[in-house]
Amino acid sequence: MADRANPVEDHYTSHDLGAVILAALRGMGKDIERLTPDDLAPVDEFHGGQRPATIRLAELLGLTGTERVLDVGSGLGGPSRFLAWRYGVRVSGVDLTAEFVRVAQMLTRRTGLEGLVDYRQGNALDLPFAAESFDAVWSQNAAMNIADRDRLYREMRRVLKPGGRLALQEVAAGPGGPPHFPVQWARAPAISFLFTADQTRAKLEAAGFRVVTWQDTTQEALESAARRARNAAVAPPPLGTHLILGDDWQAMFKNSARNLEERRTELFNAILERTL
Ligand SMILES: C[S@@+](CC[C@H](N)C(=O)[O-])C[C@H]1O[C@@H](n2cnc3c(N)ncnc32)[C@H](O)[C@@H]1O
Repeated sequence: MADRANPVEDHYTSHDLGAVILAALRGMGKDIERLTPDDLAPVDEFHGGQRPATIRLAELLGLTGTERVLDVGSGLGGPSRFLAWRYGVRVSGVDLTAEFVRVAQMLTRRTGLEGLVDYRQGNALDLPFAAESFDAVWSQNAAMNIADRDRLYREMRRVLKPGGRLALQEVAAGPGGPPHFPVQWARAPAISFLFTADQTRAKLEAAGFRVVTWQDTTQEALESAARRARNAAVAPPPLGTHLILGDDWQAMFKNSARNLEERRTELFNAILERTL
């Protein structure tokens, strides 16, 4: 649309996404006034490995239930609602894409989690929160659209309390060459910014983080992506991330698996601590 200046937001915006998701849920016999995070997981966990990957990262982070958490690039809100539902933590989500923020808010009301989770539109490079507001910052598969990683990680550090932790799931550049496009986060290289795991780690340390855990999850991601690519050859399930992606979703699923297989992309989880 003409009033959107940002090509990343353009990439993620479709039309009537909320209505499309609700129609799919209704078709599956769900009561759309009383949804659970499990009902939504096929569509709102919009990252490699979906819900199991969120569980793995949450277990690495080890929340106690008292934390204030910020989800950067929160998408449709699957991970943030899951953290609130499973651990009882309060979560704020921030995302560039206005349509995703609207859908995240709508789905959160329908899961009855609006007392624990809130969303706002904003840019990860200029987070709309005061310094030292959060005990944990969380981000899954959002940084691959962000070129200025130094600034991104500095912003994440700024909003964390001293000693607070950062939980990341990120796509990294692998040794196999540039990715095949389209992929879920970009139809062309202009909005895809991948760094190697080593480069990313150096940028995080320079921004004021100490690595607590660093876990290569490429193999798990490949298994999940290969399964989804095989399924993409047949009719899609009624509810899935293809509803978000547009007409070329099958090519995206196939390229995701192929990029991991050829080590053009890698995936990692990391837990970092804000140094003082
Ligand atoms: C692949 S989706 C992942 C969504 C969510 N983290 C999840 O795992 O379900 C990437 C998200 O990052 C958001 N994003 C990309 N660049 C951003 C930026 N500079 N600031 C905030 N959000 C951004 C996009 O709008 C999109 O919602």
